[in-house]
Amino acid sequence: MSRQSWAEPWRIKVVEPLRMTSRAERERAIRDAGYNTFLLPSDDVYIDLLTDSGTSAMSDRQWAGMMLGDEAYAGSRNFYHLQDAVRQYYGYPHVIPTHQGRGAEHTLSRALIKPGDHVPGNMYFTTTRAHQELAGATFHDIIVDIAHDPVSECPFKGDVDLSKLDALVRHVGADRIPYVSVAATVNMAGGQPISLANLRAVRAFTRAHGIRLILDATRAVENAWFIQQREPGQKSRTVAEILFEMCALSDGATMSGKKDSLVNIGGWLGLREDAVADEARNLVVLFEGLHSYGGLAGRDLEAMAIGIEESVREEHIRSRIGQVLYLGQALIDAGIPVVRPIGGHAVYLDAAAMLPHLPRDQFPAQALAAALYVESGIRSMERGAVSAGRDALTGANLYPALELVRLTIPRRVYTQAHMDVVAESVIALHEVREQVHGLQFTYEPQRLRFFQARFKPVDAAGMFSDAERPERALAMS
Ligand code: F0G
Repeated sequence: MSRQSWAEPWRIKVVEPLRMTSRAERERAIRDAGYNTFLLPSDDVYIDLLTDSGTSAMSDRQWAGMMLGDEAYAGSRNFYHLQDAVRQYYGYPHVIPTHQGRGAEHTLSRALIKPGDHVPGNMYFTTTRAHQELAGATFHDIIVDIAHDPVSECPFKGDVDLSKLDALVRHVGADRIPYVSVAATVNMAGGQPISLANLRAVRAFTRAHGIRLILDATRAVENAWFIQQREPGQKSRTVAEILFEMCALSDGATMSGKKDSLVNIGGWLGLREDAVADEARNLVVLFEGLHSYGGLAGRDLEAMAIGIEESVREEHIRSRIGQVLYLGQALIDAGIPVVRPIGGHAVYLDAAAMLPHLPRDQFPAQALAAALYVESGIRSMERGAVSAGRDALTGANLYPALELVRLTIPRRVYTQAHMDVVAESVIALHEVREQVHGLQFTYEPQRLRFFQARFKPVDAAGMFSDAERPERALAMS
């Protein structure tokens, strides 16, 4: 009989105790943090769903690998192990380590983009677009329209709309497009996957026009699992086989190993073209470190090499995404507005639907994330207008169609009971949602403003209208 449960293919060997806080402490903490969950000390957080980036638990094999770190400046044995793992599972002949994903994005953008160029992508990601713009390119969103609809159950909301890509090529010319940037899965769309059929079609199109295709492979293993589960004809293939084909359709990839690859730090740039790889290595020695360590210690390279091998195992990825779906289903069952279908690394609350009384310029998602923290000690992340920032040319606030709060699930870290607490807390907050007040900036950084921005409640009463807010049925008050 085949097992139905997504139960974990591991057991716990070490635990990390968490500090419990009172509601009064959390009210103070969020005020001191300028109502920005990025600015909270993590000691004040109970369940940390800010990000799945660098927050995974490493295996005993990875920790053992840390002791095998070869800290030679050049040619560390751990680099060769990493190179072998990337070549075996992702298939890129040139492997250049970087300190994390944005190091690879910076290197690639500088190597390929000339001022005045255009880079189309299946929705923006914050650091990816920032590096494209820094190198002088204009970003163009070419994702399918349905990606902007939080309630559609479309299985592949990460797909590229080829007519949008075609229109851009006609408008600016293929020679002004150094590459098409394709993310798998699409973080800002809710962790939604791109289909293999679409990726193949994008590949055919880019090849016909002589344009490169660069994959953001940060969560490509998760994307491969969705392809296996949802795409006709893919059921009998392994996740590793699908991943390899996805990469084979691209000319290169930027990778944040802090997600799929189960490490706390690290990334890489994978390339096929010798000349581009030469240029990238020249840049890496300036900005990251020697081309064989890219800003990482040898032990970090080793942990990432082992993490790659663990990440593509069927039982791992089934359990990882199974846990995310478990939380998502609990919220759906309770009638909470979430992005559908549930994505690979996170459950996204639809803040615009949950707090319709707040106008967009009072940042409903930022307010919801702050309120959830105060109510429960759970830390989430805004993924709406604050993250979107301002138009690079006009300076006007961007208001993306999706105004979301991301409950991001670290890999191999929290239990099913933790997921139950998260669901209970969101449901309890949903019941008093009309009492949540909006926020306004008190400090707005110029770049990637969501990381360090500070806010205050629009209403003098504070985060909540205090009127008869019922005592929470939540654990820690
Ligand atoms: N691409 C995607 C799709 C990402 O989600 C991230 C990071 C990066 C690139 C950059 O990688 O952080 O290693 O430099 N996402 C994190 C998140 C920060 O919380 O979603 P990095």
